[in-house]
Amino acid sequence: MTDPEPHRTTLSTTRTRRIVVPVVAATRTAPPRDTDAPLLDPPSTRRNRGRLLVTGLVAAVLVLGSATAVTTAVTAGALAGAPASGDAALAAPPQAAAAPAQAIPAPTMIGPDAPADACAAAPVATALAAGDDAAVIAAVGGVESFRTLVTAGTTACLSLGDPGRIWTVVNKLRPYTPTDYAPAALRLPDPVRSLAGEQLRADAATALAALGQAAVAEGAGTIAMESGYRSYATQKRNFGAGGPEVEASVARPGYSEHQSGLAADVVPCTSRGCGTMDDLAASPQGAWVAANAWRFGWIVRYEPGRTPTTGYIPEAWHLRYIGTDLAAAYHDEGWHTLEEFFGLPAAPTY
Ligand code: DAL
Ligand code: ZN
Repeated sequence: MTDPEPHRTTLSTTRTRRIVVPVVAATRTAPPRDTDAPLLDPPSTRRNRGRLLVTGLVAAVLVLGSATAVTTAVTAGALAGAPASGDAALAAPPQAAAAPAQAIPAPTMIGPDAPADACAAAPVATALAAGDDAAVIAAVGGVESFRTLVTAGTTACLSLGDPGRIWTVVNKLRPYTPTDYAPAALRLPDPVRSLAGEQLRADAATALAALGQAAVAEGAGTIAMESGYRSYATQKRNFGAGGPEVEASVARPGYSEHQSGLAADVVPCTSRGCGTMDDLAASPQGAWVAANAWRFGWIVRYEPGRTPTTGYIPEAWHLRYIGTDLAAAYHDEGWHTLEEFFGLPAAPTY
């Protein structure tokens, strides 16, 4: 195995979160989890309470005049060293917004990249724990809110590096962690035939079954699954000795979407039997799949003309399940690669 060092999936630590914590927030709420600043009632503060009473009036005057700037500076300082935890580059420059001097605003965090808010909100946490990815997307406000959070890259629970989520992105720059990751629940996509007996993650299997049934019902014909979940070991066998031609069409072990259980290679079938993957593009089934897969939560992952972004030559047969919400947005907005959909860098090589 000649894989290079796994690429980092986190961001530069130079990024700064866009967070506003007004004056009162700094004294009422817990500090950001990754700041060392002891803002809340340390022992030394309790000892000094008497002295603070004596100077209270003076302090109150000073607070009205200058606490905004002080708090902004403290908050900005506490956050400046916070490590970023997301997946995509954030172009917004560091900024620290000033709170109004004469008002006492309610404690709040603003901005689409407020990580603690999104991950800790009860509906999000509940959906995450249940493994209900569609409910997670709904709980953060729908697809566009979800994508805003994901592309900001600061919401750890929505990481594109989580291979157990329908939104995961695996490419030549984004291997699995651990490298031999395997999904928990797999099953056959019945009634779509699995020619080699391979399975899919349960939700993807259900979605491929729906796609296959609709293809027949809408007159496109029958499809079968040539390949579904492939383990690290299976992908290693497929990759073999590698070489430039193989690299253009087969992922290295630890880098294939098939290892997530969310990818399916499909072929066209007739009463005379099933064709090959290469037969799909020119078949009625292939045309129907290209136009309609999104309705069932699937996208054609490696489209013609996208090799500089995906790293692979076109594969009309390789479908990737991302769920109906994301797939509808992907289709409706005219996206052609998951990398661009989520604001990730192109991944032409390892
Ligand atoms: N053929 C695709 C790129 C894979 O091996 O995962
Ligand atoms: Zn494939």
